[in-house]
Amino acid sequence: MNDVLIRRMTAEDAEAVWRIETATFPTPWSLRDFEHEMNDNPCARYLVAEKDGQIIGFAGIHIILDEGHITNIAVTREERGQGIGRALTAALMQYAANLGVQYVTLEVRENNEPAKNLYRSLGFLKVGVRKKYYENQTDAFIMVTDKMPPPDPDFTEAETVFEEDQNNI
Ligand SMILES: CC(C)(COP(=O)(O)OP(=O)(O)OC[C@H]1O[C@@H](n2cnc3c(N)ncnc32)[C@H](O)[C@@H]1OP(=O)(O)O)[C@@H](O)C(=O)NCCC(=O)NCCS
Repeated sequence: MNDVLIRRMTAEDAEAVWRIETATFPTPWSLRDFEHEMNDNPCARYLVAEKDGQIIGFAGIHIILDEGHITNIAVTREERGQGIGRALTAALMQYAANLGVQYVTLEVRENNEPAKNLYRSLGFLKVGVRKKYYENQTDAFIMVTDKMPPPDPDFTEAETVFEEDQNNI
């Protein structure tokens, strides 16, 4: 983990992130989806884990007022089991807390033990089930936590995106 950098994702990272996504999930998001997240979605915040200049994991959240919804988290198969998923998720929670998020929700496959363990260890509780939510009819557990880390008082975002669009609303 010492040689892993966790940083904000940029549009230039979209292809590398999409490659991990397609290698991980049966119905992956498209490259266009990730480009949209980076360029057009003011609610989206994503982090990547980088090692030796390569993207080896990513995690994303949509933020609406005080609610955060985790969209996707994945680590390349070769790099799993070394604390990278936990570090990404914890960093995402801190980022969200810094932006005023009070609670975070997510969906996880009911049989995804690694992910459920990770989320439980970060304070998430199962609060419901979406029946046959996934493509293969697997149920999704809805999980939520309000155990947010304290916001960093010195936090500032590197850039305030989409501010110029506010006049068009
Ligand atoms: C879920 C995922 C992101 C975890 O990433 P990771 O880097 O392997 O996880 P970490 O090494 O940081 O482990 C964090 C915790 O996850 C749980 N975990 C990780 N691998 C596990 C495994 N094989 N079996 C059971 N629990 C596991 C443990 O609670 C672990 O904490 P511990 O090490 O203190 O026991 C990774 O397995 C992955 O990319 N899976 C495929 C994509 C996915 O399922 N994403 C979640 C969609 S909701």
